[in-house]
Amino acid sequence: QKRVAVLVSGGGSNLQALIDECAKPDSPARIVLVLSNNADAYGLQRAAKAGIATAVVNHRDFQDRPSFEQAIMAELDARNVDIVCLAGFMRVLTPGFVGNWHDRMLNIHPSLLPAYKGLHTHERALEDGMTEHGCSVHLVRPALDDGPLLIQAKVPVLPDDDADSLAARVLVQEHRIYPAALRLLAAGAITVDGELALVDGRPGPMIWTETD
Ligand code: GAR
Repeated sequence: QKRVAVLVSGGGSNLQALIDECAKPDSPARIVLVLSNNADAYGLQRAAKAGIATAVVNHRDFQDRPSFEQAIMAELDARNVDIVCLAGFMRVLTPGFVGNWHDRMLNIHPSLLPAYKGLHTHERALEDGMTEHGCSVHLVRPALDDGPLLIQAKVPVLPDDDADSLAARVLVQEHRIYPAALRLLAAGAITVDGELALVDGRPGPMIWTETD
């Protein structure tokens, strides 16, 4: 099994989806650490409940980003982590840190990348009158919300949607695609060709819909 660390800043509903996936007997991945920059993150309680080790590395305790990241690296090294999953981790990581985890770090983002990088994705999609929205799991590269796409899930934007209703519908799909993408990566089913990921031998991303 691949040893996985999940980095969270908040509620950790995606973390929970990963915990549930890795609890399956045939899982190629095992979560060995949940790390947060925020001691109050509910994700830490989810981890404790599942018997998973936790660590808090508070960015406010460090003078600069590199020293914050060194402390994170020390926690990851101490647990012999193979794969890092960012799950609502709201700190930007430096190219140096990201480079250490090349093709071994996943992120989930609530938009159909490359559209709507950054924050407030649902509001922006609604403002633009998009008829389709969704979420993406990708391998992390130094640029924000950039990197080879593994799986995307599409949802229709409904006439009555506001940002909350749209976010909720996208989140349901996040909880499907993130466990699936981690399973593929841990099982060795992802290869990377330039900025394109091959997912089970086919050019990525896999595209899912709500009814798949
Ligand atoms: C998720 O919607 C995730 O896609 C988003 O934060 C939320 C975390 O929810 N991530 C980003 O916006 C990253 N830039 P969770 O803590 O319940 O998993």
